[in-house]
Amino acid sequence: MCGIIGATSSRSVGKILIKGLHAMEYRGYDSAGVALNQDSEVFRLRSLGKVSSLEELMINNKPKAKSGIAHTRWATHGAPSEENAHPHGSHNEIYIVHNGIIENHDEIREKLKEKGYKIASETDSELIAHLIHLNKTDSSSTLEALIKTTTELKGAFSIAAISSEEKGKIYAAKQKSPLLIGKGIEENFVASDPLAIANITEKFYLLEDGDFAEITKNDIKIFNSNGEPVQREETKIDATPTSTSKGNYTHFMEKEIYEQPDALGNTINGRLGENDVLDNIFGLGSSDAFKKVKRIQFVACGTSLHAAKTARKWFEEICEVPCYIDFASEYRYRNPIVEDHTLFVTISQSGETADTLAALEYARAEKYVGIVTICNVPTSTMAREADWKIFTNAGPEIGVASTKAFTTQLAALMMLALSIAKSQDKNADKRKQATQELRETPALVDQAFSLKENISQITQNISTKHNALFLGRGMYFSIAQEGALKLKEISYIHAEAYPAGELKHGPLALVDEEIPVIALAPEDSLVEKLLSNLEEVKARGGTLYVFGNANSTIEVKKGKFINMPDCGDYNAPIIYTIPLQILAYEVACLRGTDLDQPRNLAKSVTVE
Ligand code: G6P
Repeated sequence: MCGIIGATSSRSVGKILIKGLHAMEYRGYDSAGVALNQDSEVFRLRSLGKVSSLEELMINNKPKAKSGIAHTRWATHGAPSEENAHPHGSHNEIYIVHNGIIENHDEIREKLKEKGYKIASETDSELIAHLIHLNKTDSSSTLEALIKTTTELKGAFSIAAISSEEKGKIYAAKQKSPLLIGKGIEENFVASDPLAIANITEKFYLLEDGDFAEITKNDIKIFNSNGEPVQREETKIDATPTSTSKGNYTHFMEKEIYEQPDALGNTINGRLGENDVLDNIFGLGSSDAFKKVKRIQFVACGTSLHAAKTARKWFEEICEVPCYIDFASEYRYRNPIVEDHTLFVTISQSGETADTLAALEYARAEKYVGIVTICNVPTSTMAREADWKIFTNAGPEIGVASTKAFTTQLAALMMLALSIAKSQDKNADKRKQATQELRETPALVDQAFSLKENISQITQNISTKHNALFLGRGMYFSIAQEGALKLKEISYIHAEAYPAGELKHGPLALVDEEIPVIALAPEDSLVEKLLSNLEEVKARGGTLYVFGNANSTIEVKKGKFINMPDCGDYNAPIIYTIPLQILAYEVACLRGTDLDQPRNLAKSVTVE
């Protein structure tokens, strides 16, 4: 989703800004732009499409400015176009970049039109530039005008702004959308994503909601909404260039798939004892607090929601507590009835997903035992807002299609189930088995990579199809959903997942010679049932691709049976995810899609 970077320095900032935009490309965007404080004017370039097009424009124009702001836009208000791309300006004086959504834009647009402002784009963002310009007429400074402007805005925003009259100065404002300040030597930065400036500094100040900043190359001033100076703690964020480069891989997604043994190792290391999880791995006091938990409410989006759905069985089986699971975008609108002793859990790779954050905010006012967050970004808003948390430690995930974030979330969810069960002294034998299986997971994921050759034999056929059906039962239905999501988001093949028992209630009508049916068939208590569901597919001439155990009795004549590594009951869902990721990746490669940045999608969805 949209990305902001600003820089003020004693050197030329053009390259820094373009590099920062490149580093944020993974978030998903459709246009990019830059505004530089050059000479007495602001020099602006914008382009539709890739950052590389903007970079070419920069090379042709060779601007030499020592401060400026830049942006990648993901369209919300108004189509992707050069006119709608940021930065937006007012009277060649104020230029802004904005992430988020201004909910009362219609009202502001009317007010500005009445005052004679000419609005050039369809965006809500442009209005911010004009409002600052308007408010400047009765303010003593640009900062004051910016503060006044934000009091008129409803919604979520992070803003960086420059004025043609104040070379070398960048203003910033944050409300419910991430923004941080980077501190360098004779240069300072503002960014919505630490990766944008990770190569140039490790020192950051995380702005809080209601914060404003005024930065020059030698000075960082942070203010509250009364314009009073406030201090924010200096934070070190180590996002090394190796973790944000593709290395020898063709795509980030490929790299992230093959990083999973290490990522999972980092999730569990230091958190497991011999036969149990260690105490308080969710933070001080968590083990004590978990004694009270009688039910759990999970809220998440996308892949993170699939993690909750998969893990439900662990909570029901090991902790013996019921679970409720909601799409974050739906949760608060159904006025949930919160029973006593319910724990609220959010799962999020980024920790910034707007719907999940809004759900967390709603839950804060309800009588939950407390809020747990499972997330991959320690500096994220969700991490700061939760009472207890665990970081998945998967390292930056750049590919829009989530891979290592998902499997590490599953490992973290298993550890949450174990922590709650341990606090309540339940099922010691199951805890022991699950702990041991968790420890074996990285090695089993490694073994699953050897399936690549077998998978390559089926991808050619799948890549020519328009539809695919994924089947599973129990937890494997959720893994099938994740497999279908992976395939559709990066290959654009329409894919659906069904609990295999539901096949006869509708989707069987789709089964013909054309549609590939991908089934997950571990030797669990449901495999016999699954077998008869697969017979229904065979009887209709369907092509079956089945992932199952070596001792399976499933016979596949049309299609292929692929033997999975021998795994345990608890770690199998993680291992069965791997071939589905490889399958989606290989199919997308054959179809030649832009799979790290699939069309219309964003990595971190910071609008509702
Ligand atoms: C976007 C991403 C998905 C991700 C979802 C939730 O849609 O493209 O990959 O699963 O957001 O993101 P979160 O950061 O909250 O896990």
